[in-house]
Amino acid sequence: MIRQPEGVRGATIIGTGMYVPERVLDNAELERMVDTSDEWIRERTGIIERRIGAPDQASSDLSLIAAQRALEMAGVTADEVDQILVATTTPDRYLPSCGCTLQAKLGAKNAAAYDIFAACTGFIYGMGVARGLIGTGIADTVLLVGVEMLSRIVDYTDRNTCVLFGDGAGAAVLRPCKPGDGILAVSMHSDGVLGDLLEIPAGGSRRPASIETVQAKDHVIKMRGRELFRVAVRGMEDSIRRVLEQAELTPDDLDLVIPHQANQRIIDATRERLGVPAEKVVLNIERYGNTSSASIPISLDEVVRAGRLKPGDHVGLVAFGGGATWGATLARWTLPVYPGAGKAAAAGAGQAIAPAAAARASSRGAA
Ligand SMILES: CC(C)(COP(=O)(O)OP(=O)(O)OC[C@H]1O[C@@H](n2cnc3c(N)ncnc32)[C@H](O)[C@@H]1OP(=O)(O)O)[C@@H](O)C(=O)NCCC(=O)NCCS
Repeated sequence: MIRQPEGVRGATIIGTGMYVPERVLDNAELERMVDTSDEWIRERTGIIERRIGAPDQASSDLSLIAAQRALEMAGVTADEVDQILVATTTPDRYLPSCGCTLQAKLGAKNAAAYDIFAACTGFIYGMGVARGLIGTGIADTVLLVGVEMLSRIVDYTDRNTCVLFGDGAGAAVLRPCKPGDGILAVSMHSDGVLGDLLEIPAGGSRRPASIETVQAKDHVIKMRGRELFRVAVRGMEDSIRRVLEQAELTPDDLDLVIPHQANQRIIDATRERLGVPAEKVVLNIERYGNTSSASIPISLDEVVRAGRLKPGDHVGLVAFGGGATWGATLARWTLPVYPGAGKAAAAGAGQAIAPAAAARASSRGAA
């Protein structure tokens, strides 16, 4: 149990941004690549299409656009940023960090920059770290990014995984606020015993890259989906309950929940266990698939720019992922309703919302 200690500063989000690549990979195209069907993918996952980065794009390029949009909304310049945290499993290179690569591109010369390696829970872990840095006065301005190019580590001959994942980036800028506002509670958990449920077997110090590991396709994601499903629902429900308990609130007090977008059935099962109505739960998996640590900040930026959040709203963010890792944050929203909301929702994300998918989404009451 982690409570906000007396006397520390609060931390709150003052700007958000997102970016997804233009190229759309839809279910029909996947039908031509592996033994699958649009019907199976929709029914078992809720996914209709996902975005794939261009050959010349890397994670820092996606991050740069999302970060610039978040900084612009926040009215913060790059040289005001004290810390850059990049949650990712797919950095441009393993050395240097994606954080440092992004720092150079942004020209954020006064920042410390590094990566958080917590798979799909990375953005939640990042929120916890940012809150600690700001609360204790180590940093005043934190740029937190979640970015993935999962298309680079997926085997497009493995139907168990290739239908699920997509590329994208989301970002948030955090600053101090008065205690009792902003991030009220954080819950972060891991169980390394479950590490084999989602892994890339080779390429690290255990089995460095070799001709054999490449031939064996051991540099791509291997997943035990059914077992992960159970961990996901349990972990997400538990994390949300913990942050509500820390803040002395109940599920009825939640105005909006932004869950990690891994599988619509996981989201529905978690929502039902918590007893939260569907209209309070953000869903955009049909348009982006699972973008791992980017899925929550992408969703957050979409709801902010659509004007769905107002000061005082209680917002729960919750995720699970490889490691296994899971966690949640609960915030009392402090930003005014985004000016020009609606208009900005379409324009702010640029190419993010394909007209057909957007129509489907709104007909289901999704984000
Ligand atoms: C992966 C996942 C969608 C599979 O759905 P499921 O309902 O659990 O399906 P199962 O694993 O039970 O497989 C059912 C059948 O569908 C088949 N199948 C798997 N992928 C398929 C695909 N893309 N198209 C068609 N059939 C497929 C399986 O081979 C299996 O066939 P079998 O019964 O003949 O062996 C689901 O388990 C899931 O989302 N798990 C969590 C994964 C996750 O979130 N990973 C990222 C962590 S952040």
